[in-house]
Amino acid sequence: MAIERTLSIVKPDAVKKGAIGGCLSMLEAAGLKIVATRMLHLSKAQAQAFYAVHKERPFYGSLVEFMTSGPVVVSVLEGEGAIAKNREVMGATDVSKAAEGTIRKKYGTSIEANAVHGSDAPETAAVEIAFFFPGADIQDYARSE
Ligand code: CMP
Repeated sequence: MAIERTLSIVKPDAVKKGAIGGCLSMLEAAGLKIVATRMLHLSKAQAQAFYAVHKERPFYGSLVEFMTSGPVVVSVLEGEGAIAKNREVMGATDVSKAAEGTIRKKYGTSIEANAVHGSDAPETAAVEIAFFFPGADIQDYARSE
């Protein structure tokens, strides 16, 4: 399987629960390598732009409000099949359907306040990574385990 990069967001609900480390730890434990990370508080314009694909959906306004309700931690994850692996570790979007052992089951609250975001395809991963890490601030290192 190819080495991929994907974007992860620890959302405001998980940040406020003190679960930044818990979320990132579960991703690292699954073999994903964090090659960039930073904390920021999204502006309304940033949240609207990031989730523009959902702008016709009924939950768009509420989603933008939620994503701007506190800081988030955005990271680039790297590894074999990283996009699917990240989504597997996150669990289903709707927390009530998330499997045991997933991040959303452990830290999510609802379909909206679902603790984490992960890119869903190589094309969106490229766009989402460039959205938050437009420069060359992605690191290269080998994991030693
Ligand atoms: P995420 O994986 O970041 O992608 C879009 C987000 O919209 C999703 O996680 C949820 O936070 C939110 N979302 C998706 N579906 C719904 C829904 N039906 N109602 C409210 N929020 C939703």
